[in-house]
Amino acid sequence: MFKLIKHLLLLCVAILFNFSLLYADSVASIINYVNTGKYLELETEKAYIKLTPVTNDIIRVRVGVKDVAGNNKYLEDYSYAVLDDVINKNANFTATRRGNNIYMRTDSLEVEIDLDSALIDIRDIKDGFSYAKDFEPMAFNEPVIRQENIEKPGLGNPFNEGNSVTVTKRLAYNEHFYGLGEKTGKFDKRRSNLQMWNTDAYGYCPTCDPIYQSHPFFIGLKDDKAYGIFFDNTYRTYFDMGYTDEDRYIFSSEGGEIDYYFMRGPSIKEVLSHYTALTGKMPMPPKWSIGHHLCRWSYYPDNEVIEVVETARSNKIPLDVIWLDIHYMDEYRIFTWDKTRFSDLKGTVDKIHSMGAKVVSMIDPGVKVDPGYFVYDEMMANEYYVKYPDGSPVIGPVWPGDCIFPDFTNPSVRSWWGNLYKVMLDQGIDGFWNDMNEPAVFNDIKTMKDDASFYDFGLNSSHRKMHNVYALNMIRATYEGVLNLMNGKRPFVLSRAGFSGLQRYFGVTWTGDNISSFEHLKLTIPMFLGLSLSGIPFVGADIGGFNDSADPELLTRWYQAAALTPFMREHTAVSTYDQEPWAYGDPYKSIMREAINLRYRLLPYLYTLFHEASNESSPIMRPLVYEYQNDENTYNLEDEFLLGDKILVAPVLERGVNNRVVYLPKGTWYDYGSGETLEGNWAYYYSAPLHVLPVFVKEGSIIATKEVGQYVDEVSEEEIGLQVYMPANDGEYTSTLYVDDGETINSEYDNFVFKLTKGNGSTNIEINRGGSFNKVKRFYLTFNGGDVKKIVADGKEVTIDNNRFYIDGNTKRIDIS
Ligand code: GLC
Repeated sequence: MFKLIKHLLLLCVAILFNFSLLYADSVASIINYVNTGKYLELETEKAYIKLTPVTNDIIRVRVGVKDVAGNNKYLEDYSYAVLDDVINKNANFTATRRGNNIYMRTDSLEVEIDLDSALIDIRDIKDGFSYAKDFEPMAFNEPVIRQENIEKPGLGNPFNEGNSVTVTKRLAYNEHFYGLGEKTGKFDKRRSNLQMWNTDAYGYCPTCDPIYQSHPFFIGLKDDKAYGIFFDNTYRTYFDMGYTDEDRYIFSSEGGEIDYYFMRGPSIKEVLSHYTALTGKMPMPPKWSIGHHLCRWSYYPDNEVIEVVETARSNKIPLDVIWLDIHYMDEYRIFTWDKTRFSDLKGTVDKIHSMGAKVVSMIDPGVKVDPGYFVYDEMMANEYYVKYPDGSPVIGPVWPGDCIFPDFTNPSVRSWWGNLYKVMLDQGIDGFWNDMNEPAVFNDIKTMKDDASFYDFGLNSSHRKMHNVYALNMIRATYEGVLNLMNGKRPFVLSRAGFSGLQRYFGVTWTGDNISSFEHLKLTIPMFLGLSLSGIPFVGADIGGFNDSADPELLTRWYQAAALTPFMREHTAVSTYDQEPWAYGDPYKSIMREAINLRYRLLPYLYTLFHEASNESSPIMRPLVYEYQNDENTYNLEDEFLLGDKILVAPVLERGVNNRVVYLPKGTWYDYGSGETLEGNWAYYYSAPLHVLPVFVKEGSIIATKEVGQYVDEVSEEEIGLQVYMPANDGEYTSTLYVDDGETINSEYDNFVFKLTKGNGSTNIEINRGGSFNKVKRFYLTFNGGDVKKIVADGKEVTIDNNRFYIDGNTKRIDIS
């Protein structure tokens, strides 16, 4: 009876949430199956289910609904998110029938399919652990067409929209969910009901959903084991992660087809590496972009821009980048600039370069309707715009007034767009900011109508299908264009909106138009961690908050919290108070300077993490659960984070407090400020008055540092400080350092591996070098918590008399031969 009431309730909720067709049709019992050698295909009365083992650890599940004649109706097999070479890959597998089940096996996974219900269970072959079992048969029906969102109803709906689809899986009482991209709310997404629909969310609230990006990918964690699911569907999708019912989680879409990839763990790290094998990794950034950035809507005219950089220099506030928001343009026409505000743009940029800083400028997708303006004229002449089914351009208001919008799904448009950046590169501009790319339109639905039509590989697809990948294609066009124009140098492109795969087109992102409040400061950590676990490592938020004006305490705490996050940019809206670190004088200025200096000191460590992210897909900023998956205390932790695996940061995120609780996971930790050690697996009440940013270093770490410069390249990597944190416990501890030229794609590099070994009462260091850049000439080692007995570099013991090893107080110097 209870179950019946629950089901009825569920149905009502589903109707309310526009899932009225949830139970309308399902794949039900299997009437036939065939093993093609590449995949296993199961036939039901209404549909075909295709199970492809992409690798031993990744299973792709697709459902093609039959047409009236009973024929197979899979949609075209391509993806904007998944790399082409993966789509056509498959691993060896066997398929056997036993009783009423079929068992499909790779080397590491077993998929059990129940012939009566077509329910799928995916299990680990080693221990039979069930990762993601269907709760109900996969369901589908006609897509939801929103009549009110049709601009030209007379044309009907000419699009092939697939089906609205639903997958429902069993939810364990102890299951947690992470990822799902850029989301507000809690870090653990269990109990959440979330939507993927890229939205211009100006001044969004701390629980508002959806906002700018869509990443239909999540990591499930139960019984200490992780798995991942990527739902490769670009329509508006929904993720009900135990919100409606504690026994099930549901992912569904308004169109397309069921097409998801299951990824095995059991570690979160392995899941992420499978996910990035599917969707790609971030290329290395130019080194300057990991410094401190200053932005405002907008710095202008030219002398103000120069003055900001000069003020940073005179205040000894390290600064690498100054940003030009929309006011630099000539009446918001992209690829132009206002000649009265910037009479000599190149001269201004040169001047900023001479002070060691770089310039990034904004380029929006909306092109002003303005005959005679070259971008508009070229678009009209070539029909490069997004159009209605009758061929007329979609026109909508954005900053410049009425605009047309490039159709970035068309390769010719992408290459045309990419070349436009030459205009800005010729002025010396160093990087680009693609904003408003949801795409945002100033109307009641904040975007284009459903029947706007896109090229989409010649399929002419609707905005319903293409909306969530508009930004992805725009960033692709920008990234590929700039890459092509920069002769082997690394592009820098910031995007507001995005979809899974954004990271492979660089895809640095920030969390949009937040608010100057402590609630929003607090929100930055779960948001960054969600993005980090969705394959987007280079993330940040507007420091100080965008909407409203930050007071000095908030700004100071925000600077501290952001100092060790991947993308560090202060930004604020038009007509708010100034938010530069010097805005309120001392003591705030000095405290913010100290936080920024800490980042600049740790640059070699940070840059190494960027390399790890682009090479191995490990996030730069990590939730504690990433490294301590067996520790339940970490499962919902969202007010502290790890920078790599060695540094733990626990910023103060509340007003008017002088302390906070810090949880340290197992092991011995060093307080970075005092050098004192603290035992982990314990929560501490830690004193943190305004000038203190609580930072801790794991025992056995060797942290690479350099002297603080006023910009990242002011101090070279010839001399590297190595801060050694002696292990309290016996064992082997590995740290690394990666150094390259910081600007070219195929740079030479040095890759050092430091091994600290503690045992038999002594500790030794072994240093090994890979690569042949030979940039690093000297290490200066400082020791915390003891000393080492022996140092071995490149296989040779380092001794005092061979002149490569100096003892100067607590510092030892090693010259590299
Ligand atoms: C959008 C951006 C914001 C920018 C403004 C003006 O609101 O999110 O960062 O300052 O547009 O370009």
